[in-house]
Amino acid sequence: MTDGVLEGTTSTGSTAGTGGWSQSLFAADDQWWRSAVIYQVYVRSFADGNGDGIGDLAGVRTRLQYLADLGVDAIWFTPWYLSPLADGGYDVADYRAIDPAFGSLGEAERLISEASTFGIRTIVDIVPNHVSDQHAWFQAALASEPGSPERARFWFRPGRGEDGNEMPNGWLSKFSGPAWTRTRNSDGTPGEWYLHLFSPEQPDLNWNHPDVRAEHEAILEFWFDRGVAGVRIDSAALLIKDPALPEIPAAPKPGQHPNTDRDELHEIYRRWRAVADSYPGTRILVGEIWIPDTERCAMYLRPDELHTAFNFDFLGRAWDAASMKASIDTTLAAHAPVGAPATWVLSNHDVTRPVTRYGQEDSSFAFATKRAGTPTDLDLGRRRARAAALLCAALPGSLYIYQGDELGLEEVQDLPPEQLQDPMYFRSAGSDPGRDGCRVPLPWAGTDSPFGFSPAGAMSEPWLPQPSHWAELTVETQERDPNSMLSLYRSMLRIRRSDPDLGDGHLEWRSSGPDVLAFARGERFICITNFSPVPIELPSGCLLLLASADASDGFLRSDASAWLRSEHSLTQGRGLRGPIEGGE
Ligand code: NOJ
Ligand code: CA
Repeated sequence: MTDGVLEGTTSTGSTAGTGGWSQSLFAADDQWWRSAVIYQVYVRSFADGNGDGIGDLAGVRTRLQYLADLGVDAIWFTPWYLSPLADGGYDVADYRAIDPAFGSLGEAERLISEASTFGIRTIVDIVPNHVSDQHAWFQAALASEPGSPERARFWFRPGRGEDGNEMPNGWLSKFSGPAWTRTRNSDGTPGEWYLHLFSPEQPDLNWNHPDVRAEHEAILEFWFDRGVAGVRIDSAALLIKDPALPEIPAAPKPGQHPNTDRDELHEIYRRWRAVADSYPGTRILVGEIWIPDTERCAMYLRPDELHTAFNFDFLGRAWDAASMKASIDTTLAAHAPVGAPATWVLSNHDVTRPVTRYGQEDSSFAFATKRAGTPTDLDLGRRRARAAALLCAALPGSLYIYQGDELGLEEVQDLPPEQLQDPMYFRSAGSDPGRDGCRVPLPWAGTDSPFGFSPAGAMSEPWLPQPSHWAELTVETQERDPNSMLSLYRSMLRIRRSDPDLGDGHLEWRSSGPDVLAFARGERFICITNFSPVPIELPSGCLLLLASADASDGFLRSDASAWLRSEHSLTQGRGLRGPIEGGE
């Protein structure tokens, strides 16, 4: 397939710079990103337009109305570039081409343009830390001699030990196992090693090399020219390595870890910010910065660097009032000095779906503690995921929604092993269940798989099998049910969009029992989440706007959130009446 099932021509690049995408969308609001609701599309699993069982751009184009109805401001597309898919597209062979399984460049341009007519901005995923081993640069490096200019763009090193049999250092891959793979010379003898912090099919680039820097600035321009409103930067804290490639010390000094969060990264992002700022409208840079220190993370958000970064601290927290409050406080305190808005993220294509996580005894998330076969109470998890959605959407800043969370999909934990694709699973020899369980194709309609994911009469099954009970979770089913997760998300985003108290700004905690979080936004908005095992009475003098569980009797159930509007201004001394208690 070259161009999806919809009409279209191959790109000539003629739309670049000025083309079909709506200039007025950019003129509309230069602060849009501070409050934006950004929906993550994992292209392979969103919607399949041509019936080959793989999601594609044609499929996305048929679902733009769905996203507009949901109420999102922007779509972030996970990598759609030419890729052998050794890591779901995070192994890019050509950053300026769309993988034929997904469509064509011309179709991506049309998608960006069509989305803008729905008022939806597009964010693309930039993967700067590594390329695919099929990328022209890496192929040229393999074909060249040790010490050649082609190899200087990567981290090639001779091995240690007499025969060079030992890896250059002991660094480990994020996907388990060593971070080094040995090459073969043209005569078949063992050659140099190359560094890959992820899979061997993802060699790390050498960001000290001027070609690497210039190329990525050109890639940014390529996509900004096509009307994208921003880029999500993959593995943004890993790009720079200490050129001496030393072992990782037990307690590295901040900014001097050999391969993570090094101080030199900031000058790269200052350059990128200058590129983004040279375009009309606000083109944003969003960092995937997975480091534990929230203050170090906020350093990337200084006014001349990135706009926002994913808030992984909050994502990792257990369903626990004190822990979540601590994360909210730490996040807001770290962001305040740099003037950047926080982001709230419940999940993405790398982590266990919230419905599953919150239904487990240990509901925190960390890659290191992920285990298959953990007992899960999905009903409990779904109640909490509903409550968490309202909590996050009420917090100050922007909001990310991973596709399928608005349907309350759970992690699919019983995928047949022979259908798994994630290198995290294979490289850990199965001790890590991998990330396929959150990447199962979405159920749209009907009573049987593919549930409208592929068009009627499609020749191929979805690339991962969908559970049969997802018949109850299709968009079609949920649209008919006012109490469904989808209906909750739609109401939530409608209120969020129309209420000036929500989005960017401040929050003020209201006193409450120990297992309850209550805060006010602006003049009159209140969000209450009940983590306690018993119902709590809602304060009087408030209108109930929305609740994640029935609260029409004036009580907020366990594991539920409510949005209220106070009849009186909360900032003028006449506060809430009635208790916000909780506890046992
Ligand atoms: C983070 C991405 O979200 C993940 O899916 C990918 O495997 C790694 N970066 C490597 O690119
Ligand atoms: Ca397809």
